Amino acid sequence: MSNSPAPASSDQRQRTQDELKTLVGHAALDYVVRGQWVGVGTGSTVNKFIEALASIRHDIPGAVSSSQASTERLRALGIEVRDANEVDRLAVYIDGADEIDGKGYMVKGGGAALTREKIVAAQSDQFVCIADGSKRVQVLGAFPIPVEVIPMATARIIRQFAAMGGQAAIRMAGAKPLVTDNGQYVLDVKGLAISDPLGFETAVSQWPGVVTVGVFAFQRATTCLLATDAGVQTLSF
Ligand code: 5RP
Repeated sequence: MSNSPAPASSDQRQRTQDELKTLVGHAALDYVVRGQWVGVGTGSTVNKFIEALASIRHDIPGAVSSSQASTERLRALGIEVRDANEVDRLAVYIDGADEIDGKGYMVKGGGAALTREKIVAAQSDQFVCIADGSKRVQVLGAFPIPVEVIPMATARIIRQFAAMGGQAAIRMAGAKPLVTDNGQYVLDVKGLAISDPLGFETAVSQWPGVVTVGVFAFQRATTCLLATDAGVQTLSF
């Protein structure tokens, strides 16, 4: 990992998390390849990026989006959105994370969009993760690991996580299970420290009924823009 120094800043006051997200959302514009489709993730940090992207919408053909929520925001700002199947390769995918470690491995899915996020990331040459400093961790797993599952497999998958020492619970939307853009459920798994992200992703992805595990090791970040009070730090992996 190379770690470029934060740019000098005369404004060293403590920024709010919203300000940090705005800062890093705008910084991500530098990574958008003009003239090419861009992959767009999901979440409150990405929403800041989408606002910034509107300022250069005439310089790109449009976006491939990882969720219905991001698609609606993009279209509302006049940015064309295409289905992932209509665009072969994306130069860059820009998305947030719930946690990112020193190798660019991430936990994602806090916004329940993990499956489409992994799909768009997989067709992108670069993954630029945008996050505030609170997301940088030594070991993944303090944030509950999201896992999208097919509803009929839920009880068994909860037992499989229990056998590993994890406590999995169905994510709720009010009194009912949250239903993803793909019509499935999400489990949030607490109590696991992920010391081997590649091994964990490989193993859990093979359990019948698992649609996507929210550990992004194979689709890790190639760059992370980390917003701090001192400015945006660039981590390259
Ligand atoms: C959505 C995600 C988000 O990227 C992740 O939850 C971070 O979101 P935010 O920028 O709101 O903190 O994986 O599924």
